Amino acid sequence: MKKQLKHTISHHDPVHDSAIKHVQGTTVYIDDMPAQTGELQAWLVTSPVAKGKIKSIETGEAQMIPGVHCIITAREIPGGNQMGPVFHDEPCLADGHVHCIGQAIALIAADTFEIAHHAASLVKLDIEPETPILTIDEAIQHNSRLQPERRIERGDPDGVLHSCKHVLHGQFHSGGQEHWYLETQICLAVPGENDEMTCYSGTQHPSETQAVVAEVLGIGRNQVVVETRRLGGAFGGKETQANHLAAWASLLAAKTRKPVRLRLTRDMDQSITGKRHRFQSDWKIGFDDDGHIQSYTVIFNADAGYASDLTMAILERAMLHAENAYFIPNIRIIGNTWKTNLPSNVAFRGFGQPQGLAVIENAIDMMARFLNKEPNDIRKINFYGIHDRNTAPYGATIKENRLALIHEKIIHSSEYISRKKLVDDFNNFNHDVKRGIALIPVKFGISFTTAFLNQAGALVHIYADGSVQVNHGGIEMGQGLNLKMLQVAAAELGVSIERIKITPTNTSKVPNTSATAASSGSDLNGMAVKNAMDQLKTRIKSIAPEILEELFPGKKVLPENVVIENDSIFDSTQKEVCCGFEEFCSKAYLKQTHLSAAGYYRTPDIWFDRPKGVGKPFHYYTYGMSVSEVEVNLLTGRVKLVRADLVEDAGDSINPMIDKGQVIGGFVQGLGWVTTEDIKWNKEGKLLNASPDTYKIPTISDVPVELNVELLENAYNDNTIRGSKAVGEPPFPMAVSAWLAIKYAIASIKNHKAEPMLSIPATNEEVVLAVQRMNEAAE
Ligand code: MTE
Ligand code: HPA
Ligand code: MOS
Repeated sequence: MKKQLKHTISHHDPVHDSAIKHVQGTTVYIDDMPAQTGELQAWLVTSPVAKGKIKSIETGEAQMIPGVHCIITAREIPGGNQMGPVFHDEPCLADGHVHCIGQAIALIAADTFEIAHHAASLVKLDIEPETPILTIDEAIQHNSRLQPERRIERGDPDGVLHSCKHVLHGQFHSGGQEHWYLETQICLAVPGENDEMTCYSGTQHPSETQAVVAEVLGIGRNQVVVETRRLGGAFGGKETQANHLAAWASLLAAKTRKPVRLRLTRDMDQSITGKRHRFQSDWKIGFDDDGHIQSYTVIFNADAGYASDLTMAILERAMLHAENAYFIPNIRIIGNTWKTNLPSNVAFRGFGQPQGLAVIENAIDMMARFLNKEPNDIRKINFYGIHDRNTAPYGATIKENRLALIHEKIIHSSEYISRKKLVDDFNNFNHDVKRGIALIPVKFGISFTTAFLNQAGALVHIYADGSVQVNHGGIEMGQGLNLKMLQVAAAELGVSIERIKITPTNTSKVPNTSATAASSGSDLNGMAVKNAMDQLKTRIKSIAPEILEELFPGKKVLPENVVIENDSIFDSTQKEVCCGFEEFCSKAYLKQTHLSAAGYYRTPDIWFDRPKGVGKPFHYYTYGMSVSEVEVNLLTGRVKLVRADLVEDAGDSINPMIDKGQVIGGFVQGLGWVTTEDIKWNKEGKLLNASPDTYKIPTISDVPVELNVELLENAYNDNTIRGSKAVGEPPFPMAVSAWLAIKYAIASIKNHKAEPMLSIPATNEEVVLAVQRMNEAAE
């Protein structure tokens, strides 16, 4: 079948600033930066056992290899041996004990990568192994808790469950996921005068990378500069873990006083870095004959891996999205985090939200089969209301609710009802191949749930030749942030984008920034850029009368009439009194005008009381829906996505082409999570599938044959940059509709009278097993 991409691309949207360079292969990533004079290459010595006591580390033989410059273990760290981003439970180099296979024990810098690699193999480790904890069940058995449980509760969930007409319950599993950014983790550390260190780091969070480097080197943050031009993908995997590479490279660079480059090979990257948190969740749902949900309880058990990293924030986001798009009067959400002897799990697109959403969507799917009703009807009657039934379990009001609107739209545009009939007809006439179709809604809260992180800065310079330089604290990782910032800067200042240059992100230009994460990169940095532009416009407007009156003798210009538009400054009441931007800037400079401004923004009016589990943690919500149709080969378990329809509320989109790209990319990445991406550890805690031949991410052939993507129209969002909405993560969980469609196809074997037992991911193997169970199930 021919692939149709029905969504239209407007040729008026400016294209991604790296688009042409990517196609030509001329984009410069950190590893493409030319070698520095005297540059050394680094490698790591990592733990071969999942848990154990380090008895000795012998580096003598490795030190003797010609070309080896230095080997560092925990003892040689001049500052604190710590790189935990929130809780200080993650040593930079293992000291005394190891907690997972792949944990860094020693660092080597050598003339070449090959020498460093060879030297690493000669470091002799004597580690006394201990029994590791490798599953959530084992962690629960041994009470290997990371932190005390967290809880959000409303109403009387137990009492109501007791009196409900129907109650269903179950345990739901969703697996981890490898980020598979194309550019692996990297840092080039260059020592400067005295203790100074400059890191070219592949990080989503330059300020934290700076802080961690300062910590391990035992110096002030003012001595460390972190610079990042762009990332070759990150997806949350570089929110904290890039700090590790920067810390390791900087330690070697500080010791040798030479530039040091540390980059991970693909299999090393995949083996030692953390993944999406797998979840095991126990749930109960109580409802009436019509399918009104009356009570829901869920206990999330998240596998943290060996250290905290961002696990508590990820769990929190799962808990804050446990009810997805539904008003549930009685609800209890419990969150547990468990320590295992695996690499510490980390942020990954969705940040817990997909894990939370999947549990309730699966429960609703089961309710529908149980009641023999159309699952969409059940979803619809439980959607949050507009004027009532509109408070979340944590007390916030669900405002600007666009669920019903999008639902109506997508039911129509996806031809859901008629296609479902065709799916059922297909299934009646086919024995070994079955089809399925499903819809899900997605509600996603926008803001860092750690309220103070919702701040950003920008630094804008207008030069005397009228060219403009914009620095902001966000990171370009392929999502188009720099292009959006360019568009915001141009629109806010009233000049063309050709006049503006966005520089690499640099901690000495904009300090104390937050990670580019939580989908809020353009929201936060966009507002900071706007704030800088507002300051500059005020200054331009105050000097404009003087300049314009000099150019047009006899004319009187009032500051309040001055307008900056289309690269010129003019009086709106007498438009001929006008000056081009270049000429104006050179004159303003001669008149000693300050043409530089630091912008700042913090999201107003958000808070969350963790112990009580109440608050207003989000600035706003985004809404989206998807319909997926799949075809499942019952004999091989192969799943083909026949068609997907995606509708996303991106507000008044700053760049619809970029945003549609995000919707498609997020959905397809989600597809990998729910179908083919399966992380396999052996009994010793070693990752078995650390390469693309055994770990299967989606490719172009997994993209649906027919893919329709629509951004909601007339969707201006109040109090955000140019009325837009965040779009980076929310489309990811839309792929759960494909997973539900697989369930539907399997359930058709028994005419939807029995419930398929399926977890995430529904790999070919899992599908075949689920089909077997279905064939054996009683109707
Ligand atoms: N898109 C691309 N191409 N590459 C990425 O690494 N990361 C995602 C999303 N889209 C990512 C991406 C994640 S996890 C987040 S949080 C957002 O982009 C971050 O960028 P934003 O806040 O500017 O949307
Ligand atoms: N998303 C991503 N990263 C974060 C968050 C979040 O909500 N909170 C802290 N770090
Ligand atoms: Mo995204 S997981 O918040 O980097």
